[in-house]
Amino acid sequence: MSHNFKDRVVVVTGAAIGFGRAISQAFVAGGARVYGCDIRQDELNTLHEQLGVLATRVDLTDRAAAAAWIAQVEADAGQAVDVLVNNAGGVAGQSNVPIEEVSDAAWDAVIEINLGAAMALSRACARGMKTKGAGAIVNVASGAALKASLTGVQAYCAAKHGLLGLTRQLAQELGPFGVRVNAVAPGFVRTNAATERQWAGYSQERQAAIIDAIALRRLGRAEDIANAVAFLASDEASFISGEILSVNGGSR
Ligand SMILES: NC(=O)c1ccc[n+]([C@@H]2O[C@H](COP(=O)([O-])OP(=O)(O)OC[C@H]3O[C@@H](n4cnc5c(N)ncnc54)[C@H](O)[C@@H]3O)[C@@H](O)[C@H]2O)c1
Repeated sequence: MSHNFKDRVVVVTGAAIGFGRAISQAFVAGGARVYGCDIRQDELNTLHEQLGVLATRVDLTDRAAAAAWIAQVEADAGQAVDVLVNNAGGVAGQSNVPIEEVSDAAWDAVIEINLGAAMALSRACARGMKTKGAGAIVNVASGAALKASLTGVQAYCAAKHGLLGLTRQLAQELGPFGVRVNAVAPGFVRTNAATERQWAGYSQERQAAIIDAIALRRLGRAEDIANAVAFLASDEASFISGEILSVNGGSR
């Protein structure tokens, strides 16, 4: 079932592939006007052609560019953003190395895309949402917001924990203005080359153990995550704020 997002302006970051694409599709199905950004130009073109998403290349590690994009969306739509989905993230091509070997640049890159961008975009959308007296922000966190990460990337785990803190704090700050802020915590989903590499790097025994630790005995799909995001952004979730919803098939 699609939720009704008719006439809503929805912004999705990291929209080109994986969860972001599925999330965009869910909002399009609900009748929203969807704006997506990413750094993958080819996939953005496809997103526009196939789903009608108004797709723009924005590097969200540049906070000024992130804010400028929101201003551009508001000008184009002629209204404030109704729904912001902070989905862009990931490990920036990194894998686990001992903490003694983590460079400042590597740390900053992961913190910036998973946490800094969510702050910059929330900041850019807040004024319009507060003036309107309505809005929803959904942050795509991770199981790594609640416990250690399967990736072993320290900055990723720290950033996702930080994103949960931002979710809780902004829910309190923006709630009096009618703005809800929530997060989803997906389990591992094979969405892209990086997650395929990660999965292939596990032994067959480890793969079996990962699936065995999931009550529903399967890995998640991008659509599973998109459905949860759409629910949290919808009017059906109008009394839910400051929450983190695990979408992991019942993982131990
Ligand atoms: N796939 C998983 O198993 C999993 C599990 C838990 C959480 N997550 C989180 O879900 C979100 C989506 O993950 P995914 O697996 O679909 O894809 P992903 O982690 O590879 O990245 C999401 C998108 O963000 C874009 N992006 C990266 N850097 C960017 C930048 N500087 N500016 C703009 N866009 C940028 C990427 O191009 C990509 O399209 C991420 O936040 C990720 O951390 C993923």
